[in-house]
Amino acid sequence: MALLESILFFRKAALRNDPPGPGRINSLRSIFGLKNDRIGPIVRLHEQYPDIALCRVGLQRLYFLNKPELIQECLLTRHKSMHKDPYYFFLKLILGNGLLTSEEDFHLKQRRMIQPAFHKERIPEYGRVMLEEADALSRGWKDGQELNMGTEMMQIALAIVGKTLFSSNVSHESARVAHALETILDQDQRYMAPWGGLLAKLPLPATLRFNRALQELDDVLYAMIEAHEKQGDMGDVLSMLLAAEDEDDGERMNRKQVRDEALTMFLAGHETTAIAMTWCWYCLSQNPAVLQKLQAEVDAVFGDRENITPEDYPKLPYTRAVVSETMRLYPPAYMMGREAIEDTMIGEYTVPKGSIVIVSPYVTQRDERYWPNATAFRPERWTDEDAALKRHKFAFFPFGGGKRLCVGEPFAWMEGVLVMARLVRDWTAELKPGFEVGYDPKVTLRPRDGMPMIVRKRVR
Ligand code: HEM
Repeated sequence: MALLESILFFRKAALRNDPPGPGRINSLRSIFGLKNDRIGPIVRLHEQYPDIALCRVGLQRLYFLNKPELIQECLLTRHKSMHKDPYYFFLKLILGNGLLTSEEDFHLKQRRMIQPAFHKERIPEYGRVMLEEADALSRGWKDGQELNMGTEMMQIALAIVGKTLFSSNVSHESARVAHALETILDQDQRYMAPWGGLLAKLPLPATLRFNRALQELDDVLYAMIEAHEKQGDMGDVLSMLLAAEDEDDGERMNRKQVRDEALTMFLAGHETTAIAMTWCWYCLSQNPAVLQKLQAEVDAVFGDRENITPEDYPKLPYTRAVVSETMRLYPPAYMMGREAIEDTMIGEYTVPKGSIVIVSPYVTQRDERYWPNATAFRPERWTDEDAALKRHKFAFFPFGGGKRLCVGEPFAWMEGVLVMARLVRDWTAELKPGFEVGYDPKVTLRPRDGMPMIVRKRVR
């Protein structure tokens, strides 16, 4: 039997048509680079193999897909043959079995229960919180002040997510949670290594630090859950999670599941939006003509009012175009991975079970074939309807796609548009002279050393 299996295996391998690529490489590091260069190597791979590339590390096969048609197959058409990649082992240690890390029927069931928290009718309420927080931030800035825009945007995104998810009376805990998360996320490289599973079990100082931070998260989250259970509906996402019932069996989530989902939302919902807004400030500082046009749109919508309302959101198409163009060039989730759970096809190629498939919005969204003059920051691309119609849906996918499309996408758009509109009404920001912008890509595309900027009050 074993002999027959071996013969079949080698026959299949012989018949397999492999895509081009650098072939066998010594370690993943030569693709993903050292700690601070996860971008350069995938960009270089794309330059050499524009559509698809295959690399082999030992027995592990890694497929890099760059062409929108192939990305669509991975995320949408063939999604049933794909699970999240092994990197999610690290996220699972933190998030448990939440929406981001769960699979198959359980994921679908959870998605059905959570989706209503992001329905159209709930989003304007979140919009009010976003505008209040932007107003408070704007009032705190001083003309000529130097600040780290990365920190500022992280603080506002945390406050927004804290209030909308857990209600204002518990949002002071957000800072504690954020600190614990920082300690945990710093260890991603360690747990991504092949021996990551073993490290998680050994009582090493870094593992103990990791576990303490995880315990801290649990303390905060379970206290919040308990407060919500006592107080009843507080009109926030946590209340919805506690009340949600599965439409088929009427089952509710247990406390551990509510903890996993709440933490997933917290993590997925603040870091990404904060990073998008930070890059947006950077792009505006480099493109004064765009900033002028943006401020003209915002001024017209504000009129004489002190603040706008969430209902003004559709009246800000250029602001949305600026946010879109920022996320094209600097997608916060710059890379997504899947593991084939069975033999499957991508394009004309057989992808065997166990292969890793990687797609990168950063790479595809800078591909000249789909984005002429790709590195130029041109929000006008988004107001040209003809160009948008001609573009492949998966030439722009900062929120992923298919069944695993970001559940918080409408929330994120509203936050980016409203917060940026409120802030640029009163402020412009220039990059600190001499500062060199770089990447610190971890789970997300963080700018290295934040983004030191000098803010100037607008004279209107
Ligand atoms: C600019 C902001 C955001 C970006 C760029 C972003 C990006 C993404 C991406 C790319 C995925 C799919 C990952 C994959 O397929 O492997 C995802 C999933 C997810 N995001 Fe977001 N996200 C953003 C904001 C948010 C917000 C505000 C929330 C919640 C409040 C959120 C919650 C989630 C959750 C729960 C998932 C898992 C969905 C599932 O698998 O069913 N995200 N996000």
